[in-house]
Amino acid sequence: MRIDKLLANMGFGTRKEVRTLLKGGSVRVNETPLKNGKTHVDPENDIITVGGEEVEYKEFIYLMMNKPGELISATEDANDWTVIDILQPEDQIFDPFPVGRLDKDTEGLLLLTNDGQLSHRLTSPKKDVGKTYFAQVSGEVTEEDVAAFREGVTLDDGYVTKPADLRILEAAPVSEIEMTITEGKYHQVKRMFEARGKTVEFLKRVSMGELPLDPELEPGEYRELTEEELEYLKKITNME
Ligand code: URA
Repeated sequence: MRIDKLLANMGFGTRKEVRTLLKGGSVRVNETPLKNGKTHVDPENDIITVGGEEVEYKEFIYLMMNKPGELISATEDANDWTVIDILQPEDQIFDPFPVGRLDKDTEGLLLLTNDGQLSHRLTSPKKDVGKTYFAQVSGEVTEEDVAAFREGVTLDDGYVTKPADLRILEAAPVSEIEMTITEGKYHQVKRMFEARGKTVEFLKRVSMGELPLDPELEPGEYRELTEEELEYLKKITNME
């Protein structure tokens, strides 16, 4: 990879700014000053320093966010703030995008990455990765609803959902439930309850597979995934 591209990717400025940085002589590769931006370096093996500080190159970024209830799960939007807008600039330079979508008013676990392959696999219904939600639902959620969700319910457009596991935590007047689905149709949880004549008042994703939302993260906070968490996600999507 060209050194100017690598440094720009790592947030050292635009290509032009990086050229100036290189000309200034503060960039060294394996201790030798490097001034030509076109020179190719091997980010895996070369030791690259800027002003004496080693540059740790990474291609991919993997973030876990506790999405607050007022952001759009998209990379840009003409009218609303998106989940990308609240990332730090040093994370934005990796061009991450949300893995699947949560509705604007849905909170909770949202992964963001620039790794298209992992994202695709995590959201593919074929991979059967369970997404677990906590919800408050107006009206009484009953054992009949549990049985109906287990069978699959017919949504307003005629689509029959795959079996979903519904657990009742609290019964009426406002029921609290947890449910796990393995697909992600538009407004799926809300529409599944609508099919049963009930309305979701609050929705929060609490886990993907066995990966729970970090309880330390307040709404609007995020952190990088740990190595173990990333390995787990790759494992359940057969990436290693
Ligand atoms: N189901 C919904 O209805 N909304 C979400 O945001 C996620 C799942």
